[in-house]
Amino acid sequence: MPAIIRPWRPEDTPGAVHVVKSVFDEYGFTWEESGYHADLYDIQSHYIDADHEFWVAEEDRRIVGTVALETFPRLPGELGSVTRVGSQPRVAGADCSLERLYVLKEARRTGLGGNLVRTVLERAAQRHKTALEMWSDKRFGDAHRLYARFGAEVVGERICHDPDQSPEWGLLVRLAAT
Ligand SMILES: CC(C)(COP(=O)(O)OP(=O)(O)OC[C@H]1O[C@@H](n2cnc3c(N)ncnc32)[C@H](O)[C@@H]1OP(=O)(O)O)[C@@H](O)C(=O)NCCC(=O)NCCS
Repeated sequence: MPAIIRPWRPEDTPGAVHVVKSVFDEYGFTWEESGYHADLYDIQSHYIDADHEFWVAEEDRRIVGTVALETFPRLPGELGSVTRVGSQPRVAGADCSLERLYVLKEARRTGLGGNLVRTVLERAAQRHKTALEMWSDKRFGDAHRLYARFGAEVVGERICHDPDQSPEWGLLVRLAAT
């Protein structure tokens, strides 16, 4: 059965954690349950209650992929430049972001990652968002080819506040309103 993408439900939490943790283990990145990854253990308050959205991909009753959309007021500055919000570099002019795109290794290269990205972009446009930011570890080359196919432009770089202090590209997708 091909994977279906659907909104997160509370019982999906262990499966969503498993997907993201498997990718972190695969790349040898540090896992931080009560810090950088705390959002995954409380998706209700981090995403749903904050008017963001979180989806899972389910295949044969197993969670094999995740993605999230965060929405916020337009960040100050000229669209496509990099601005600073608190201590963090961000994409100026963005009013939403794609977060937590992960697919289990064994479920990759069937189009699922692309479908998860499309889910976020379509929903953002439905919500009248105009510019989506993504920050992505420079070592995730598969993701960068995928994002480029959706028109993402690299607009900046930063050091992530994750435990590994990972270098990241900042990307922008200009959204067409629906
Ligand atoms: C990035 C990621 C989500 C992509 O997931 P995916 O399910 O493999 O994505 P897709 O299947 O849509 O596309 C991946 C590749 O498979 C190809 N593909 C898609 N369907 C295919 C099919 N039926 N047969 C053969 N190849 C196919 C795509 O053309 C793409 O090719 P490319 O590597 O040359 O760009 C996944 O690799 C991943 O989780 N990586 C680690 C974490 C990560 O990078 N996350 C992003 C954080 S910002």
